[in-house]
Amino acid sequence: MRAREAFTKHDRHLAARTVLDVTRSLGFADRSMIWLPSSDTVWKTLRGITAANIFSPRGLAALRGVRESKVRDLMGYFRGRDGDVVDIRHAVYGCMLSLVSSAFFSVDVIVRENVTIILLDVFIAGSDTITATVEWAMAELFRNPSEMAKVRAEMDGALGGNKSVDEPDIAKLPYLQAVVKEAMRLHPAAPLLLPHKAVEDGVEIGGFAVSNAWERPEEFMPERFIRRGDDEVDLWGKTFEFIPFGSGRRVCAGLPMAERVVPFMLASLLHAFEWRLPDGVSAEELDMSQKFTIANFRTVPLKAVPVVVS
Ligand code: HEM
Repeated sequence: MRAREAFTKHDRHLAARTVLDVTRSLGFADRSMIWLPSSDTVWKTLRGITAANIFSPRGLAALRGVRESKVRDLMGYFRGRDGDVVDIRHAVYGCMLSLVSSAFFSVDVIVRENVTIILLDVFIAGSDTITATVEWAMAELFRNPSEMAKVRAEMDGALGGNKSVDEPDIAKLPYLQAVVKEAMRLHPAAPLLLPHKAVEDGVEIGGFAVSNAWERPEEFMPERFIRRGDDEVDLWGKTFEFIPFGSGRRVCAGLPMAERVVPFMLASLLHAFEWRLPDGVSAEELDMSQKFTIANFRTVPLKAVPVVVS
């Protein structure tokens, strides 16, 4: 499989980036973790700072309160719109900007010269991707009522009458995690990853056989991740047919944060509200087309009505 070959045998050689002109013209490319080649010492420093302070188990544990409070604020926003039509993307995006900036400003070890560039990197890489994924997952659940019922049943069983979801509760929700993976499989937030570039000439990736790894690939079937065993297909790019975060040395730097925030946000949305589509919109007719820029958003933002669970 070509992805396997690219990310194992050729990983080091393909770990530079093709830099978009717009990025270069802003002078951003020479300082950014997203665009610098992985051989550059600044890239190593920036990835090292974020990996050690933000995305390490200790860093993430320290910021759990920030994530929970931002997601609760989001629930508060929807609660204030009980019964109204809301734009899910708009609200989730606002939450993500606030979450990312609070998370990064609360880490005082990031030295001043690095903070601006790291913030810009994580705003760009983290806000759209998480927003698009949560929006797609909600849209798929609207379109697939029996999967929606299963995820709700799992939450009722695991969380009982808890007032709200806590981030560690996610571990008790394997079906919800499978829903997230299935949404990412069908709608990866960055389907082409970011543009990889060969560090030097002469890298060949052979074999054009494109095998379809998935049964009924077009369908939303979270069970496919359960049946294979949860450990078997994780988000870390070891299973090359499923690499929503990329793989190898340029794998998403924010993966440890995204794998907490996406399921936590989705579980919170489902726990706090019954959701229905606006009057006159049926699940079967929901427009599921996607508009591809760098992040893979729905063409039509998802509008829905939160109804507070009493
Ligand atoms: C659902 C959520 C997310 C998805 C699907 C996603 C996906 C990706 C992908 C596919 C790449 C490129 C990998 C490659 O080129 O091989 C990437 C890179 C990156 N992501 Fe994410 N990402 C997500 C969330 C986040 C978050 C929350 C942050 C930070 C807070 C983040 C920070 C980064 C950074 C800094 C890079 C550049 C790494 C480098 O070039 O060395 N991402 N992400």
